[in-house]
Amino acid sequence: MRILLFTGKGGVGKSTVAAATATLAARSGQRTLVLSTDAAHSLADAFGTSVGAEPVQVAPLLYVQQVDAQLRFEQSWAEIQGYLLSVLEIAGVDPVAAEELTVLPGAEEVLALLELRLHALSDDWDLIVVDCAPTAETLRLLALPEALGWYMTRVFPVERRVVRALRPVLSRAAGVPMPDDGVFGAVERLHAELDEVRALLTGPATSVRLVLTPEQVVLAEARRSYTTLSLFGYRVDGVVANRVFPAGDADAWRTQWVTAQSDVLAGVEDSFAGLRVWRSEYRPSEPVGLEALGELAAHLYGDSDPLAVPPAREPLRITRSSGGAVLHLRLPFVVRGDVDLARDGDDLVVTVAPYRRLLTLPAGLARHRVAGARVEDGELRVRFAAGADQPAAQEEA
Ligand SMILES: Nc1ncnc2c1ncn2[C@@H]1O[C@H](COP(=O)(O)OP(=O)(O)O)[C@@H](O)[C@H]1O
Ligand SMILES: [Mg+2]
Repeated sequence: MRILLFTGKGGVGKSTVAAATATLAARSGQRTLVLSTDAAHSLADAFGTSVGAEPVQVAPLLYVQQVDAQLRFEQSWAEIQGYLLSVLEIAGVDPVAAEELTVLPGAEEVLALLELRLHALSDDWDLIVVDCAPTAETLRLLALPEALGWYMTRVFPVERRVVRALRPVLSRAAGVPMPDDGVFGAVERLHAELDEVRALLTGPATSVRLVLTPEQVVLAEARRSYTTLSLFGYRVDGVVANRVFPAGDADAWRTQWVTAQSDVLAGVEDSFAGLRVWRSEYRPSEPVGLEALGELAAHLYGDSDPLAVPPAREPLRITRSSGGAVLHLRLPFVVRGDVDLARDGDDLVVTVAPYRRLLTLPAGLARHRVAGARVEDGELRVRFAAGADQPAAQEEA
């Protein structure tokens, strides 16, 4: 099974390209599902049909689903929220305000991805296309399972033990309900599921495609996303340049646009050298409906196979050498000053502002000390040397 994620700035054509790619795949015999996690319902608009919270068939082998993030949220979060609400109630917080306090910003989107997990496990699909929310949200959302993982392995077990031991005493004394084990169970389950989602999204069968329009600001954002997606271990396998003005018998206005766009397109080829860059023309009308989407995809991909898995470019590699090892983390476009590196026990904390990744070191490396780091050929290279003594936490890349 293959998973394709389409992301990019708002309005560049993510939903259109996602829908078009799915249409093409279904026509070539793939059992295809398009999932939208974006609260803006542009997927339904692209297909020109109404789309439900359950997969709706729109063509042979082609299904579309607009994930009901609110519903997912309520199902997964209910138990945890229930506990939080009871605490807030005792604290005298107004129930309406309490309700609002227990809703995490961005959590809905993350939980929408749980739907992806269910579908991936189901064996019903050859291809799942995910129409993501605009870039910033997607990136924040993709970092969450790992960040939660840190909390879950460090804080959570201690908290759980402490609560277990103290519950009988504290409940009576303070009048505050201690979370019962069901709440911890719910948190644990949620975390395990999110972890599976992350594993799916960073796995070799999943590719992220950056959709952009040939404009400088859009390209700049796409470059930043490429860096951040790489930081978090996602495999970007291509770029879709959408809404490219066709050249030829153009008036002065269009000629100027064609020139401006070709400058940016050269920048795109340059920036994403090594990745596939597909181009999609600015159509004379909005590509809505199966007919138009199929046509767009046929032009877009031409002879190339939209589902081909490109040669592996592992986001994270470790090479061994005598007496040590080097950890390579792909970080396109980054220069030395952009990266901050710190060692925290078994974790390597890599910051490319404003994003931070906590990389848990494999056991073999955890015993080594960081001997040096540099940024080279679009990679962060951290050199580890044998020796148990760990240097002070801060280590400049
Ligand atoms: N190649 C194209 N030619 C003409 N119009 C397009 C093209 N791609 C997208 N559009 C139109 O641009 C608008 C935004 O596209 P959409 O896919 O909804 O963007 P996003 O999902 O990134 O917000 C829609 O009206 C869509 O029909
Ligand atoms: Mg959209």
